[in-house]
Amino acid sequence: MSGRIFLSPPHMSGLERAFIDEAFASNYIAPCGPMVDAFEREFAERVGAASAVALSSGTAAIKLALVCLGVGRGDRVYCPTLTFIASIGPAVHLGATPVFIDVDPGTWTIDPGLLEEKLAGDAAAGRLPKAVVSVDLYGQCCDIERLREICGRHGVPLLSDSAEALGSTFGGLPAGKGAAAAAFSFNGNKIITASGGGMLASDDTALVARARYLSTQARRPAPHYEHAEAGYNDRMSSLVAAAGRGQLRVLDERIAARREIFARYAARLGKIPGITFMPEAPECRANRWLTVLQIDPAESGKTPEGLRLALEEEDIESRPVWKPMHMQPVFAGCEKVGGAVAERIYSRGLCLPSGTAMTPADIDRVCAIIERC
Ligand SMILES: Cc1ncc(COP(=O)(O)O)c(C=O)c1O
Repeated sequence: MSGRIFLSPPHMSGLERAFIDEAFASNYIAPCGPMVDAFEREFAERVGAASAVALSSGTAAIKLALVCLGVGRGDRVYCPTLTFIASIGPAVHLGATPVFIDVDPGTWTIDPGLLEEKLAGDAAAGRLPKAVVSVDLYGQCCDIERLREICGRHGVPLLSDSAEALGSTFGGLPAGKGAAAAAFSFNGNKIITASGGGMLASDDTALVARARYLSTQARRPAPHYEHAEAGYNDRMSSLVAAAGRGQLRVLDERIAARREIFARYAARLGKIPGITFMPEAPECRANRWLTVLQIDPAESGKTPEGLRLALEEEDIESRPVWKPMHMQPVFAGCEKVGGAVAERIYSRGLCLPSGTAMTPADIDRVCAIIERC
């Protein structure tokens, strides 16, 4: 039997090496320089944003966006409950209080109807949030136009956590386009990776410029470093940017491969009674970062955890769907709106290995184990 199959390992194209060599040759072994500038330009173009700032992580991108949107102590920030903690962790560190909104069963992203109702009630009660963070879960884009319209009615800015959705589109527009800002991640498990790193993109060039300023210790341009406020150290290194530039060139190939992996799983496992897959919104073309199945224990007699353990026994990594934030001990007692949809998706969900270097034989190996179960 061949080696371990990971959930979503890095997949280098070979193009990264030339950029990394170039960064070495320039001696910009630092979080600045022409490589970082070029990566920002190329990335902004790819996601259809006026500008972008390269950062040390997607989490840093979310944090700086929230700071730029004015989030601070005592504010309320809304986000979908079905997500990875980095969508809301930065808001908590800034002293804000999270409120979790349930997701739409048809998209698994924040339920616009629930958000609309909640904001209307909050407006009447005079307790609107400082920001809403929407999440493009597993590569599925939110309907940003609709969310922006709902938030815009109350003057609440919308930040798109598009960490998992680079290259996805909604109504032909790139993930995150139309939000006040969008955060992306190049973490080792993402559709393209630079070993780590993140990007904050926006059409609001002033917001991006402020995020860039804050990410470099809020240094005013004076030889002695003048500081009118305390900043952060969140800039991306040149070497990371070099890897990112190489990866960006194969993004379309990676999306095609992830979609193909999804199609293979769905064609084969979709025949099993009780197994369905994460839906794709009609206007969305998802990057299918991870293929996520749903298993109905009543119909199949199996649980996602049973499948996960069976796969693990054969040296195959899979992972439960993100445990909803309102179920996490750290957020016990936090306000939530609904939550039953996310709980159900979580209790039935399993993320299958989706790395783009997987071969058809690898996919068959995974499918055969699930069929055997
Ligand atoms: C939904 C979501 N938001 C934010 C992040 C944070 O990105 P990073 O790991 O680059 O900080 C991730 C991934 O790690 C993510 O999946």
